[in-house]
Amino acid sequence: MSSNSNNRHDLVERNVGLLAILIIIAISFGALVEIVPLFFQKQVNEPVDNLKPYTALQMEGRDLYIREGCSVCHSQMIRPFRSETERYGHYSVAGESVWEHPFLWGSKRTGPDLARVGGRYSDEWHRVHLLDPRALVPESNMPGFPWLAENVLDGELIQAKLTLFRDQFGVPYTDDQIANAKSEVVGKTEMDALIAYLQSLGHAMK
Ligand code: HEC
Repeated sequence: MSSNSNNRHDLVERNVGLLAILIIIAISFGALVEIVPLFFQKQVNEPVDNLKPYTALQMEGRDLYIREGCSVCHSQMIRPFRSETERYGHYSVAGESVWEHPFLWGSKRTGPDLARVGGRYSDEWHRVHLLDPRALVPESNMPGFPWLAENVLDGELIQAKLTLFRDQFGVPYTDDQIANAKSEVVGKTEMDALIAYLQSLGHAMK
């Protein structure tokens, strides 16, 4: 004679659909316990103290970094291992990325991590390197991006971009910054913008 609890067990074992649902609940519980508390932790939601919003020119540069696929070869995510922190600096923390939409952490390192490349080289170094990487690093397999020096920004979208980042993502742009955004970028080259972006990377935790 089977007891009540055995009957319930039968129900689960004979009903594949129910079994699948219970398995999913059991497995996701482990993940939820790890993930859900993070939504409420200041440390991962709030910007680190020195974080500054991208200037209009840096923001244009960031879009070019995305357009040119730089993150296909470069990560922006320093892991907390000694081999990485000695080479690149302080490991990356969540509070540095709260204003990043989308994240550009990357997952492949054909070239070095760029999370803290800001200030490591001069603007002129970057200019020569982006035009022709092998002029500076003979064994480099990074492609050149010579058109960046020729294309001039028209600034048509920059005010809309900053407004979107303020209204949708809570980045603290002032009205003045948005009003002046277009005149800050118009006439500059894409090269100027990309270099301004690269030079801005990583200062908040230095
Ligand atoms: C096909 C892969 C590839 C792509 C795409 C690529 N890079 Fe690189 N990058 C490399 C490699 C490899 C190196 C190391 C050799 C060198 O310095 O040229 C490098 C080096 C660099 C460095 C020097 C980093 C350091 O710490 O010395 C910078 C800055 C850089 N790349 C920026 C960019 C930017 C910006 C883009 C997009 C416009 C880009 N890279 C696209 C492969 C790539």
